[in-house]
Amino acid sequence: MTRSIAKSEWHPASWTSLPAAQQPNYPDRPALERIVSELSRLPPIVTSWEIDELRSRIAKAQRGESFVLQGGDCAESFDECTSENIVAKLKILLQMSLVLLYGLKKPVVRIGRMAGQYAKPRSADTETRDGQTLPSFRGDLVNRHPFTAEDRVPNPLLMLRGYERAALTLNFVRSLIDGGFADLHHPEFWDLDWVGHSPMANEYHNIVDSISNSLDFLESISGRQVHEAQRADIYAAHEGLHLSYEQAQTRFLKHRKRWYNLSTHFPWIGMRTATLDGAHVEFFRGLANPIGIKIGPGMTAEWLQELIGVLNPNNEPGRISLIHRFGAKSIEDKLPDLVRAVRETGSPVLWICDPMHGNTESTADGTKTRRFDNIVSELESAFSVHKALGSYLGGVHLELTGENVTECTGGARGLTDGDLARAYKSTVDPRLNYEQAMEIAMRIAGLRH
Ligand code: PEP
Ligand code: CO
Repeated sequence: MTRSIAKSEWHPASWTSLPAAQQPNYPDRPALERIVSELSRLPPIVTSWEIDELRSRIAKAQRGESFVLQGGDCAESFDECTSENIVAKLKILLQMSLVLLYGLKKPVVRIGRMAGQYAKPRSADTETRDGQTLPSFRGDLVNRHPFTAEDRVPNPLLMLRGYERAALTLNFVRSLIDGGFADLHHPEFWDLDWVGHSPMANEYHNIVDSISNSLDFLESISGRQVHEAQRADIYAAHEGLHLSYEQAQTRFLKHRKRWYNLSTHFPWIGMRTATLDGAHVEFFRGLANPIGIKIGPGMTAEWLQELIGVLNPNNEPGRISLIHRFGAKSIEDKLPDLVRAVRETGSPVLWICDPMHGNTESTADGTKTRRFDNIVSELESAFSVHKALGSYLGGVHLELTGENVTECTGGARGLTDGDLARAYKSTVDPRLNYEQAMEIAMRIAGLRH
């Protein structure tokens, strides 16, 4: 595989001369240009110093000194941009991170799939129902879900609505954190009302009690509060899929002499758009952000080495995270060669396991689901393969929600295919519910087998 344009000059729109997969086809091009230009004048969602801070935290995780928890919805929806949903997501991420901190005895970096996860790749450009063919739903950033011609036409104004919701979401998250919501002294703030006496919640509360005791102990012997150091930060991440949107918020910062995508801290390249000669890789190569690359069963050692060469030519620490999602059945076969191939590049990388996207299946009635046992099995294989090769699995990437949904089967309550209809809310991929997500955290933390 050779890369024809490796040496040409990069600028935020240089991707437009290359084939761009998974982009909406806007009928009104002038409207698209107007919106992109408006978006490029609006203030950024995140700042360069936060992005640099995250890059150095990821560099630490690459060295095995910390662990990354990345999680959230498959796709955020505009309708669900509510205080309840944002708080629930924050709570589950904070609770899981506390369990991981306790079990792994390492700092945990929290990255939400949130405040911008509005665009989705699709397997087909169109969808046909009862003889009618319309554009596929590509996420709220692009078009609307109902199957009508009006809803499905890509509308550039939705980018502006998405930008606003991303800003509203992060504004609320920042205010909660600044107000002390994420203070480790008050994990009781993170309790979810409906959880009640779930066995997982009881186990979690035991952990909280022992952490509170050790915090008290540390403070009494050191004579000072661990408060500041112990306040949790949350970073934002989304798939950098919709390149016009990503480009609009990409700015050159004179004091840093680099280009930053200020729509999020951590954008990732999805599995379907990691083509070497494609527009996404071209766009991402010019960014200063730490970036993720999703890798699936089709990834080859050579392709991955070339991707790393193009995306991290100077072997910068913290820059590259490889999020592997092979499926429980393929991971042991596919992962080892890639770990060896990456080692040959000399680039530090953070290995993150996404045990969700390789384990999606359909039930007899066509409902998309994932089995808890397959998710756990892929995670266990990921830990053991990395360990056997002397590599470090430094993170996990999950689709989850703090709500009590029934989208994945299995887990402590043994949800079956028949339970799925009860509370299935996702319009895209099935998410872990609160109990399933906590059980995963406890298993990673070595607190459950
Ligand atoms: C996703 O993370 O929702 C997704 C589409 O993942 P992938 O690119 O790995 O299929
Ligand atoms: Co998904």
